[in-house]
Amino acid sequence: RDVAQTVSTGTLPAPERIERIVAAAHSRYRTDQDGAVADYIPVLAAADPDLFAVAVTEIDGDVHEAGDAGAGFTIQSISKAFVFALACEAHGHPALRERVGVDNTGLPFNSVIAVELNDGHPRNPMVNAGALATTALIPGATPAEQWERVRTGLSRFAGRGLELDGGAYHSEMLTNQRNSAIARLLESYGRIDVDPGALVDVYTRQCSLRVTAHDLAIMGATLADGGVNPVTGERVVSAQTARDTLAVLASTGMYERSGTWMFEVGVPAKSGVAGGIVAIAPGKGAIGTFSPRLDPAGNSVRGQRATAYLSRALGLNLF
Ligand code: DON
Repeated sequence: RDVAQTVSTGTLPAPERIERIVAAAHSRYRTDQDGAVADYIPVLAAADPDLFAVAVTEIDGDVHEAGDAGAGFTIQSISKAFVFALACEAHGHPALRERVGVDNTGLPFNSVIAVELNDGHPRNPMVNAGALATTALIPGATPAEQWERVRTGLSRFAGRGLELDGGAYHSEMLTNQRNSAIARLLESYGRIDVDPGALVDVYTRQCSLRVTAHDLAIMGATLADGGVNPVTGERVVSAQTARDTLAVLASTGMYERSGTWMFEVGVPAKSGVAGGIVAIAPGKGAIGTFSPRLDPAGNSVRGQRATAYLSRALGLNLF
């Protein structure tokens, strides 16, 4: 914690200063080796652990980046934030609160016990059970239609057509017993109205969308901008939905470490097991980072450090 916390002034520093701070965030943590690449999905184990990217998108659409900002990786759990936004947009705030919940479980992202402890209520849309229940709410007459709705919805957040990483999707489908079990458990409690097998397929596809740190920074900046993509100018979701999504991320986005994250970094964020993190500063912009080595909760180590540094240096902390 060797950079003093800059007190938020309500605006970001000048672009040249952001540029220098982004470069510093990258060079400070570039050689950190802590953490381990996820290996419970075989294809993730093959990731280059040294890749590292930092990108910041301002609310006016300017992007600043350093490192491997064009390197592709699977979005994984970060999709949960944006699919939550799409479901919220379709059904509204009360339905998501009641059917999925908006609280932290305090348990790991793939926990089955969390479902059991809550009478089958998923409670947290940012872990696998709640994310499955959220994806089940995406409108569509068939799973294929739901998937297309997810893919095009997330593409609008990114401002470009996102594509499925077929290798990652097939790899995860082969090792997806746990998510299948969670979907069946939700079905047994009457918490989903769709076929659990088809649901796991759509969910695994959404996790296998390929993005870059550059994309994440734009997707996040769309939430920071009240639902309008600051690069394309398109309204993707309502301001209410953007606010609801950020509120959920604040308490759940970094899994069981979300409280520590808010205490230390002070901005809503969401991580994925491929090594991506998106962090959002409402009204200012967003940070996208990518580095595959993870801590035990499943959060990228360098990504957390770079985001924490940027939050301090750019004055992003909400509090
Ligand atoms: O369902 C899974 O286990 C993965 N597709 C996503 C998990 C994930 O990203 C958790 N992350 N930190």
